[in-house]
Amino acid sequence: MTGSRKLFVKSFGCQMNVYDSRRMADTLVPEGYTETATAEDADLIILNTCHIREKAAEKVYSELGRMRRLKQAAAEADRDVLIAVAGCVAQAEGDEIIRRAPAVDIVVGSQNYHRLPELIVRAGRDGPLVDTEFPVDDKFDRLAAPSAATIRARGVTAFVTVQEGCDKFCSFCVVPYTRGAETSRPVEKVTAEVERLAAAGVREITLIGQNVNAYHGAGPDGRPWSLARLLERLAELRGVERLRYTTSHPLDMADDLIAAHRDLPALMPQLHLPVQSGSDRILAAMNRRHTRTDYLDVVARLRAARPDLALTSDFIVGFPGETDADFADTLSLVSDVQYAGAFSFKYSSRPGTPGADMDEQVAEAVKSERLQRLQQAIDRSHAAFNRGCLGRTLSVLFERPGRHAGQIVGRSPYLQPVQVDASESLIGAIADVTVTEVASNSLFGALATRAGWGPTPPRTVFDGSSLPLQGRVRVRDAGA
Ligand code: 5AD
Ligand code: SF4
Repeated sequence: MTGSRKLFVKSFGCQMNVYDSRRMADTLVPEGYTETATAEDADLIILNTCHIREKAAEKVYSELGRMRRLKQAAAEADRDVLIAVAGCVAQAEGDEIIRRAPAVDIVVGSQNYHRLPELIVRAGRDGPLVDTEFPVDDKFDRLAAPSAATIRARGVTAFVTVQEGCDKFCSFCVVPYTRGAETSRPVEKVTAEVERLAAAGVREITLIGQNVNAYHGAGPDGRPWSLARLLERLAELRGVERLRYTTSHPLDMADDLIAAHRDLPALMPQLHLPVQSGSDRILAAMNRRHTRTDYLDVVARLRAARPDLALTSDFIVGFPGETDADFADTLSLVSDVQYAGAFSFKYSSRPGTPGADMDEQVAEAVKSERLQRLQQAIDRSHAAFNRGCLGRTLSVLFERPGRHAGQIVGRSPYLQPVQVDASESLIGAIADVTVTEVASNSLFGALATRAGWGPTPPRTVFDGSSLPLQGRVRVRDAGA
């Protein structure tokens, strides 16, 4: 490919799509593309899509309408634009996308991104094509790595996919169909990627996977390693100050992983552990394979290991057959666990999943009313957690300039955004911040003038003894 063409990638849905979008861009840059932030001047537009709920999938089609108009306008100016649809809608709907949106040139499934350079050439030459096979070769081996300059431009935190797919088959969920069977990347491949990121200045790594705690990648000894072992290994790497992982399934919360929350200072005290419902009857119908008591037991063991752990969750209201009593069980679970926060969704029937064929679908108005009540309960926990942070000193990794001049923003160990009046030279550093004010979605604080503080101080270890157990941390859609 000659000359510089412009690439616009838009991600919908979970962090894995964000990660995949970056890897697609990394693979296309050596092919002569440069990234642009606006679709209007792009030669190649990639929409990396989400299929988890009907609304998410429909968003893609309305976006494709806009892209079709851009493509037409470009054609009138004698400029070719290619439109590619990637991600879970591509995987689930395949050539149906081209039927519904004929402006689309390429439909590429989530396992085939390494083939993009070839698909672009073929689509430009032969017209629209669909590639949604699950190939035997490992896409991660074939996707290009970002340059140090690109890593630096993306900031001091990064996602790394370590596991993909899901074998759990919750009866509401499309992930096992769109992302396929559970696979884990080998330990050494993950380690090499994390080393490269850390060498370019990344300080916090979030390991991602639809069912990340089911990780069982091959270790250097040829045996499968658990997620806990992988985390331990990564914590030893130079420059890796903070580790997180998401999204986890309660069944895979193994003893060694729980212990890692006690023993690994780099592992941040925050965990997204979706439960979906507080009712045993609904959990069984959802095929979650755990009861409310099992879940509460995992939570108790986690909190015994790490008392200040900020727990977040996902909930679905209005799953088929959910009664008022089932919903009351969900509300009582929220108050039992005292979540740091949670996402809650109205059940969305997904074609091809067992839930779609179940009797007793719940009326939309009932779902809306339950969602509102659940969100109020979650918001109360969130507010309580943030209030509990007032006056505390938390270690903050500064990520970027803040909303106002002279302000920078970072994250607390619990993943809360923290705004501080301080020099931009601190971006990339971890510093102690005393929380002076609490707003609904972020904290405000001042640099703590403690003896021993420096621009890149060592990790701050929390004893957690006086931290509240409830609060809210923002985590985006992921799975599990
Ligand atoms: N309807 C509503 N919410 C869903 N989720 C997954 N599938 C559905 C569905 N069909 C939610 C779950 C999951 C999160 C990523 O999205 O709560 O944890
Ligand atoms: Fe797998 Fe999570 Fe979907 Fe259940 S909700 S099938 S665990 S991705």
